[in-house]
Amino acid sequence: MRLNHLKPVCFLFVSFLFIHNVNAQELYKNAKAPVQKRVDDLLKRMTLKEKIMQLNQYTEGDNDNPNNIEKSVNELSPEIGSLIFSSSDPVFRNKIQKKAVEESRLGIPILFAFDVIHGYKTIYPIPLGQAASWNLELAKKASAIAAKESRLGGIEWTFSPMIDVAYDPRWGRVSEGYGEDPYTNAQFGVATILGYQGTQPYDSLHVAACLKHYIGYSRSEGGRDYVYTDISDQAIWETYMPPYIETVNAGAATVMSSFNDINGIPSTANVHWLKDVLRTQLGFSGLIVSDWYGIDQLKSQGVAKDDKEAAYKAFAAGTDVDMVDNLYGRHLEDLIKEKRITIAQIDEAVRRILKLKFELGLFEKPFVNILPYEKRFLLPEDIKTVEKYAEETMVLLKNKNQILPLVNAKKIALIGPFAKDNDHVMGSWRAFGKTKDVTPFYDGILKEFGDKVKFEYVRGCDFEGNDKSEFDAAYQAAISSDVVVLYLGEKSGWSGENASRSNLALPGIQEDLVKHLATAGKKIVLVLSSGRPVELARIEPLVDGIIAVWQPGTAGSAPLAGIISGRINPSGKLPITFPYSTGQIPIYYNHRQSARVYQGQYQDVQQGPLYPFAHGLSYTKYEYSDIKLSKDVINKTDKLIASVTVKNSGLRNGLETVHWFIRDPHASISRPVKELKYFEKKEVKSGETVTFTFEIDPMRDLSFPDSKGKRILESGEFQLKVADKEVKFVLN
Ligand code: BGC
Repeated sequence: MRLNHLKPVCFLFVSFLFIHNVNAQELYKNAKAPVQKRVDDLLKRMTLKEKIMQLNQYTEGDNDNPNNIEKSVNELSPEIGSLIFSSSDPVFRNKIQKKAVEESRLGIPILFAFDVIHGYKTIYPIPLGQAASWNLELAKKASAIAAKESRLGGIEWTFSPMIDVAYDPRWGRVSEGYGEDPYTNAQFGVATILGYQGTQPYDSLHVAACLKHYIGYSRSEGGRDYVYTDISDQAIWETYMPPYIETVNAGAATVMSSFNDINGIPSTANVHWLKDVLRTQLGFSGLIVSDWYGIDQLKSQGVAKDDKEAAYKAFAAGTDVDMVDNLYGRHLEDLIKEKRITIAQIDEAVRRILKLKFELGLFEKPFVNILPYEKRFLLPEDIKTVEKYAEETMVLLKNKNQILPLVNAKKIALIGPFAKDNDHVMGSWRAFGKTKDVTPFYDGILKEFGDKVKFEYVRGCDFEGNDKSEFDAAYQAAISSDVVVLYLGEKSGWSGENASRSNLALPGIQEDLVKHLATAGKKIVLVLSSGRPVELARIEPLVDGIIAVWQPGTAGSAPLAGIISGRINPSGKLPITFPYSTGQIPIYYNHRQSARVYQGQYQDVQQGPLYPFAHGLSYTKYEYSDIKLSKDVINKTDKLIASVTVKNSGLRNGLETVHWFIRDPHASISRPVKELKYFEKKEVKSGETVTFTFEIDPMRDLSFPDSKGKRILESGEFQLKVADKEVKFVLN
C-alpha cells in the first residue's frame, strides 16, 4: 500500500492538533484571535480571586487612602486590575507593569487610569470655557493631544469627559462640564470622546474615555457638593440624560456612577438607572466604575449598614469596578458563598475590563515607549492648538463705546492679582500641568505691544484678604495711564470638586479695588478668570470692557493679549447664564413657561440675568437675515431646511457662532421657552455674507421625552429662533 497520499492528511491532522493545543493553552495571547474569544479563553483560566482583583481599582501615590499601594512597587500585588496612577513617570509605570505581566499567574497587564480632564501636561481651557468656543473640532483636537500625552506618560484610561448639565454655578464642578445646556454637553462630550478614543481599534496614542458622573450629580441640592438630589424622572430624561444618550451612541468605553442619590437611591447602587436605563434602554455595554469611595459612601448615605451590604448593593446594581475602597476585594467572595451574587455576574463584570484591556492593545504592548520628555510633552504644534482653543473660549461680555481693542493707548496700567499669575489660570484638575510652562499674562501683553506702549504694573491686592496697602499705588498707576487693564477672578481651588460657593461675587477686596480705581476716572477693562459665572452687579457699571477668560490653561496669555491689542477678534459666547445676583440661582435659559409670564420676579433686583446664555460680543458687526424655510408645513417624516445669512458689515474678519433654538409653545407637557438644537461656527470675513443652515429632523429636533424616556412627537406649531429672528412652521 502506498502511504504517500496520506502525507497531506497527516500534516493537516498534526497541524490541527498543534493549533488546537496552542489555542487551548494560549488563545488569549493570540493577537489575531477575536477579542471576545480571547476574553472567554482568559476568563476560563482565572480563579475567583483573580477575577475579583480585576474588579478592584487601586491607587498609587501618597494620599491617605488605606488601599494605597504607596511608592514601592514591591508592595503591590501583580494581580491588580487597574490603577489610578498619579505619577507621570513612564519608567516607574513600566516597572509596575513588568511586575504584573511577569509575575501574575496569567500575565494580565494592569490598566492605568488618571483624571486627565483638560490636558495632561499641555493644559487647555477648563471644559466650561471650552464650551464657550462652540468649536467642536478644537475640542476633538485638544482631547487627542491629552490622549497622546497620557499614553506617553503611561495612562490608558481617563476619567473624562464630565457631561453633567449644570445650571447651578454655586456647585464648584460647574467648571468641569460644558454648561447649562443638554445639547451643548452632548456635542462637546461626543467630540471629546472621539478625540480621546480615536477611531477604533485603539492605537497607542489614544485612551479610553469615561462618561461621568452618571447621573444627576450636578443637581446636588443648593449647589453643595456630594449631597442629595431630588430630580423628577421627567427632568432626568429632558436635561441630564441627552448627553449620555449621544456619547454612549458615539462609543464611549466606560461610565462612572455618581456620588449623589437620585430621589433616595444612590447612583452607585441604583438598579433602575444603571441596569434598566443605562444597560437596557441605552444599550451601554462598556465598563461601569464607581466614583472614589462611592461604594463605601453607601453607608453614610444611609442605604447600607456595613461594608458587605455596600459591596452587595453596588455590585448587584451593576457597578463593575470598585474605585479604591476595596470593598469588592473584601466581600465579593463571601457574597458568592452566601449565594447573594453569582459567578456569572462576576464573569460579566470581569469580561468588560478584560475586553477593554485587549482592545487597548495592552496584552500586545504592555509597556510605554520611553521617549525624551521634549518629544512627549508640550510640542510646539500642540501649544499652538491649545492657544487657538484658549483664544476661542474668551468671551467679550461688555465693550462700552468700543473701548476694546486698545489701539490708541500709549500707557497702560496693568493691575490685579492675576496679571503675573501662572498657576490659577490652569484651573482645577490640571493633571501634570506645571506653572513653569505657563506664560503669565504680564509677559504676554508686554510682548504683544512691544515698545509701542508703556506698562506700569501694580498688583493692587491679593486674591482675597483685607490688605489694601497696594491700593494707592494702583490708583497712581491708573491716574498716570491712558487706560487700566484689571485682571481679577477666582483662584483655581474655588471651583472644581468640593469647591462650592454660596456667593458668586468676587471677594470684597477685589470689588473694593475696582471701586477705588474707578475714582481715578480712567477707562477700565476688566479681565475675569473664573471656573464659573461671577456675580458682577456692583462692579460691572464701573468698568467699560469685560473679557471672561475662564481658566485658559498653558497658553492663555498670548490670545488674551491679542484680543486686547486687536490682533484677535473675540468669538466666544456664553455656555452658561451669568446671573445678575446669586439669589437668582437657579437661572438658566431653557426653563419652562411660568403661569404668569410677567409676574413673580424678584422685586429687589433686575429681572433676568446680567448676561444670558449665548451672549458674546465681537469687534465686528454681524447682520442676520430673516430665517428662510424650505417649507412652512411639514410632515413627521419630512426634513425641513432652515437658513440664515450673516453679513459681516464691520471692518474685521470674525468667527461667528449661530445658535438655532426651537420652541414648542403648546404641547402635552409644558416645554422650555426655547431649546438649543444646533450650533455652527464659521468664519465670516469683513464684507462677506455667509449662509448658515440647519436641517430639522422632526423626530430628533421637535420631539420630547416622557418620564420613561420614550420620545413623543406631537403635531402643532413650532417656532425657530436665531439671534433676534424668529419664524413659525407647522408639523402635521
Ligand atoms: C471625582 C471623580 C474623579 C475621581 C478619581 C472623585 O472624587 O468625583 O470625578 O474621577 O475622584 O479621581
